[in-house]
Amino acid sequence: MHGMNVVDLSGTAADVVPAGATAETVTEVQHYTDDLFRFRMTRPASFRFRSGEFVMIGLMVGEKPIYRAYSIASPSWDEELEFFSIKVPDGPLTEHLAKISVGDKVLMKKKPTGTLVNDALITGKRLYMFSTGTGFAPFASLIRDPETYDKFDEVIVTHSCRFKAELAYSIDTVAAAKEDPLIGELAAERLRLFTSTTREPSDRMGRITTLIESGELFEALGLPPLDPETDRGMICGSMAMLKDTKALLEARGLTEGANNKPAEFVIERAFVG
Ligand code: A2P
Repeated sequence: MHGMNVVDLSGTAADVVPAGATAETVTEVQHYTDDLFRFRMTRPASFRFRSGEFVMIGLMVGEKPIYRAYSIASPSWDEELEFFSIKVPDGPLTEHLAKISVGDKVLMKKKPTGTLVNDALITGKRLYMFSTGTGFAPFASLIRDPETYDKFDEVIVTHSCRFKAELAYSIDTVAAAKEDPLIGELAAERLRLFTSTTREPSDRMGRITTLIESGELFEALGLPPLDPETDRGMICGSMAMLKDTKALLEARGLTEGANNKPAEFVIERAFVG
């Protein structure tokens, strides 16, 4: 009468692709410190996103998929997808993600979203992107998108970390952007990176909030203080960093925007696994 349902037990858990996700192939992995790495993977043909947005990525852990939100660090025109990740001790996803190598599969849900997009800002002369730690990731995308340079004459990205080695990804990415065949010329002329460390001596020390307040940031760049007429901001870091940086921008007359209500600055928490 009825046959039994045939259950294929030949595949391992790693072969299973849960509903709503695609399995992408890792094409490159680079570790910067014991805790920080970037990787690239294939991009589903039908996948569209705006530079600066995030997606859910994950792995099968045992029989269960585990997902976390990750900013896409590559620009929207790139044929692959890039991510910048921290390894959280005992982090349910990152503990496993930190061990991936070329050829491995990473799960992705194809629904991008986020507030750190050019559409959420009104046009201005200058765009400041303030980041700490892995908060640099969405800016790695935006600084490689020609649209950012269509909208702003000058692009300043700040990256502050505890230690110098944690700045390697932003330093490398900005240097590579300036050599890139598509946006190299724009980036070479109009993109500037400002870095600082807080727990290791370096050429520039201090939290970004301290450097904004003291005026050291603007002095170093040879730029006037923040002005709502000309300046726009994007902020990505820990909750505390967002709160403090946002307060500084608001005190200087900039107002927070959103996708449906563009204004002078936008914020988003840096995602950690
Ligand atoms: P600090 O070393 O003084 O805490 P974390 O890894 O904790 O997210 O920190 C990343 C960077 O962000 C560190 O340089 C840290 O400085 C800095 N930071 C932490 N909290 C704030 C804040 N409220 N405002 C600005 N920078 C912050």
